[in-house]
Order: sequence, then structure tokens, then C-alpha cells
Amino acid sequence: MKTCFILGIAVIGLGACGGSSQDPGSETDIALRSLIQRHGLRGDPAMGRELPSIDEPLAQLGRKLFFSKSLGGDRDSACVSCHHPTLGGGDGLPLSIGVGADDPDLIGPGRSHPDGDLTVPRNAPTTFNIALWEKGLFWDSRVENIDDVGIRTPDTDFGTSDPDAGDSLTAAQARFPVTSADEMRGFEFVLDGTNADLRTALDQRLRDDGRWGAEFQAAFGSSEISYARIAEAIAAYEDSQVFTDTPWRAYVEGDRAAIAEPEKRGALLFFRSRAEGGAGCATCHAGDFFTDEGFHSICAPQLGRGKGDGFLGTNDHGRERENDDRNYRFSFRTPSLLNVSATGPYTHAGAYDNLSDVVRHHLNPRAAIDAFDPSLIPLAASDDFDRNTQEMLDFLEVSGRGIGSFRAPIELGEQDVEDIVRFLETLTDPCVLDRECLSPWIADPATDDVDGHLLVAIDGDRNPL
Ligand code: HEC
Ligand code: HEC
Repeated sequence: MKTCFILGIAVIGLGACGGSSQDPGSETDIALRSLIQRHGLRGDPAMGRELPSIDEPLAQLGRKLFFSKSLGGDRDSACVSCHHPTLGGGDGLPLSIGVGADDPDLIGPGRSHPDGDLTVPRNAPTTFNIALWEKGLFWDSRVENIDDVGIRTPDTDFGTSDPDAGDSLTAAQARFPVTSADEMRGFEFVLDGTNADLRTALDQRLRDDGRWGAEFQAAFGSSEISYARIAEAIAAYEDSQVFTDTPWRAYVEGDRAAIAEPEKRGALLFFRSRAEGGAGCATCHAGDFFTDEGFHSICAPQLGRGKGDGFLGTNDHGRERENDDRNYRFSFRTPSLLNVSATGPYTHAGAYDNLSDVVRHHLNPRAAIDAFDPSLIPLAASDDFDRNTQEMLDFLEVSGRGIGSFRAPIELGEQDVEDIVRFLETLTDPCVLDRECLSPWIADPATDDVDGHLLVAIDGDRNPL
């Protein structure tokens, strides 16, 4: 700037300095530019990666399989039951309902189970941008890369690679939903069989049908059907769901008009440390993908039937369940914040359905927990809420392992919370809010129903999704 000013005085040409490409913008822009540099942001987290296109034959087969109830033991649940593109790549429910739904084809709010019982213990994360995770998948990263060795999965012990995992986290993950009784398997199919028996039974089912061979031929160049190939095709479909073209990215790439002033103020609060008067969000939601892929406890409310932990067996100890390290009790993998406008409800048990509540929770977890009313969360059986919450509070109190604001709340005003929410909304690619833009990822009954078991989704009002 100084150079520019001096040159300007010397009248060597305003054109060289005063052009908009050199204009530093408002004070907020100047402050943000330096934070962007300090945080090493470049804009697009997918930059430099080779990812499949949805038009490739492998991804096209993957779409058919992702939407097929034939991968559900009782043919009443498919991957898309809980990961629909028009529901932000999730299901819009706090906790998912898999097998045994009253109407298996009704996806999202309105989906119900005859027992009124929820069957899945955690919130379904988005499949969007799944290819960008480098360390692990699931809220506790139980499918994870082990440096230079391979991928560890629930089929192997902690720290040991799974020889059948395939060559990506996405393909390794796609081996598991079919094995989960409440998500897809049901309670009768291959009763008492191992995960391997179950997968063999599923690929045998597709072989026996006779119509899938030509589909595998088109995608793989041979009609052989194996679960490894099923997982590879599903992974290609999921990995093609790259949605990173956000207003925030345009801003980082230099378009100062891409986001408005309140959004910029929110960004300042997000990226500034607490010592600088900010909320320090980027210490965990770091980088262009907005996650450090690490594990932290923000003290999020525990709803639903949990994972068998704690005194009542309805708590969820998160990462500790995998690494057996008490320091990780109640810790969960930091979610990415890309497309967050579309991916609610939020947190591992779907406790919050709007962003301002999530932000307020982060600023003062204890106050948010005190004010939290589990009876307002549809479908979440939470009789055990008080006891489970107390266990978490006691643990975090004694261990000191909670998010910093657990001990020392961050004092921000209502306007600040609103600005942070406005900033979070700039992290959403407009495509994910547009049915037409998403249509390449939505199965078409005219072309995709290979064996009569395609899930053709409807919403709670019985309109096509
Ligand atoms: C009944 C609902 C349900 C069904 C059906 C289902 N999922 Fe999920 N999915 C979930 C839930 C819940 C989680 C989080 C579980 C956890 O972290 O413990 C999840 C996690 C994932 C993740 C990891 C996301 C992340 O951010 O780490 C991927 C990828 C995924 N599912 C893909 C699939 C695929 C592929 C299928 C079909 C083979 C499938 N899901 C079927 C509910 C479902
Ligand atoms: C100490 C690390 C840490 C800090 C600091 C942090 N977060 Fe989080 N955040 C997490 C973790 C971990 C979760 C998921 C916790 C869970 O589900 O139990 C989460 C969840 C979220 C979610 C919900 C996302 C989803 O898909 O469910 C949003 C939104 C969010 N954080 C925004 C923020 C904002 C805004 C700030 C700053 C005010 C912030 N976070 C600060 C770790 C952090």
C-alpha cells in the first residue's frame, strides 16, 4: 500500500494503483484478507484432486445401487433412505429410521416406524464432499486411514488394516451400512451370519436376479458381481458429489462482492481467536474443508437410544469406543461446515435444527444444555436425557477435556450470533438447494430401476422428492 501511495503522489499513473484489482476494499476486507492468509485458505478444498464425474459409467451404476432396496436384507431400505440429495445428502431427521418404516419410500420428515421407536442411534451425516475426508469416516472415524498401511474398518481391530477395505475410505465405508440390522440388514436376513456371509448373500442375490450382469458389464467391462465391485461403484457415485462452489470460496478467490458485510463480520468472528475478540471457530473447523478431522467434545446433547455406553446404556462415548482412550470420551469428529444450510439437523444426535442454536451452544455449552428441552425433538426417545447429560457434564468437569467455552463461555451479542450464522450460510453451494441442479444424482425410474426394487422417494406430503 505504501508503495502505491508514494507512486500515486509521484503521478506515475493512478491506473497502476487505483484499479479495482488493487483496491484493498473495506476495513473488514483488509482484516479478513490477513486472516485468510494466516489460516492458509485457498478457496476450493477439492483443488488438485481427481474425482469421478457422475456421468461416468461406474458412478451411474453406483447411483442405481445407492437407490436400490435390493441391498437391504428385507428389500425395504436403501442407502438413499438416509442420504437423499434433496435433503442435503442426509435425511433431514435428528436420528435416522432405516428398516421397518411404515412407508419405506417416504424419506425425510414424516418417515415413521410402527413402534414409534427410533432404530438408528446417530444423526446421518451428508454424503456430499465425502471424497474430501482424508483421515476417517463416521462420527467416530471407525473407518480410517492408518498411515502407509491401509484402512482400518469395524471388521478389524483398532490400528489394524482391513485387507478387504478397497482403496478408498468411501469404498471401505460402503461395506458397512448393509451389515447394520437397523439401517439395512433387518433382523432375519442371513441371521447369525458374519459380515462377510451377508455381503456374499447380497452379491449372490444380484447375480441370481440375472438383470444386474449387463449393468456391471457396462461399468467394469465384465459382468462379474462381487461386493467389492458394489462398494466401488457406490463410492464412485458418492465421490462425484462434489459441491464446493460457495460464495465464501468466491470471496477467498478474490471476488469481494461475493458476500455481504454482515457475512464478512461473521467471518471475522469465526476466524479470529478468542484473544483477538473472536470465537475461535477455525481452531477446529480448520482449512477450506472447515474441519481438522480431529475429535473434540462440545458437550452436544445426547438423544435417542445411544451406543450402549454409560450407566443406563443409552449414552454415546464417541471416539473412546474406538481407541479405548478415556481422554476421548464424548468426543466426535469435527464436522465439515460446507453446505451446512442444507444438512440439518445438526450434531451427532441431531439435537439442533437451526444454526443459531448450534452457534449459541458452542459459545456457552452449559447454558445451552440447561435450556435444552429434549421433548421438543420429534422421534427422539430421551427419557434418559437427564442422567446421560449429567454423566457428560461430570466427566467434562473433572477431565477438563471439553471445548474451551465449557469452562469459560464466550460472550457475544445477538447481532454477533446472527452474523456468524450469515457467514455459515455462505459455505453452501447453491446447487445443493436446487432440485434441478441435483438431478444428475437422483435416480430416474425410467433408466435406473434394474430389478423393480428402486427406491422412488416421496416426501411427507407424498410428493416426489
Ligand atoms: C438408516 C439410515 C442409513 C442408511 C440406510 C445408510 N446410512 Fe449412511 N449413515 C447413517 C448414519 C446414522 C451415519 C452415521 C453413523 C455413525 O457415525 O456412527 C451414516 C454414515 C455414513 C457415511 C459417513 C459420513 C461421514 O461424514 O463420515 C457415509 C459415507 C454413508 N453413511 C454412506 C452410506 C451408504 C453408501 C449407504 C448404503 C450402502 C448408507 N450410508 C446407508 C445412516 C444411514
Ligand atoms: C473444540 C473444537 C470446536 C470448536 C472451537 C468449534 N466447533 Fe463446531 N463442532 C465441533 C464438533 C466436534 C462438532 C460435532 C459435535 C457433536 O456432534 O457431538 C461441531 C459441530 C458444529 C456444527 C454442526 C455441524 C453438523 O453438521 O452437525 C456447526 C454448525 C458448528 N460446529 C459451528 C461452529 C462455530 C460457528 C464455531 C465457533 C463459534 C465452532 N463450531 C467452534 C468442534 C468445534
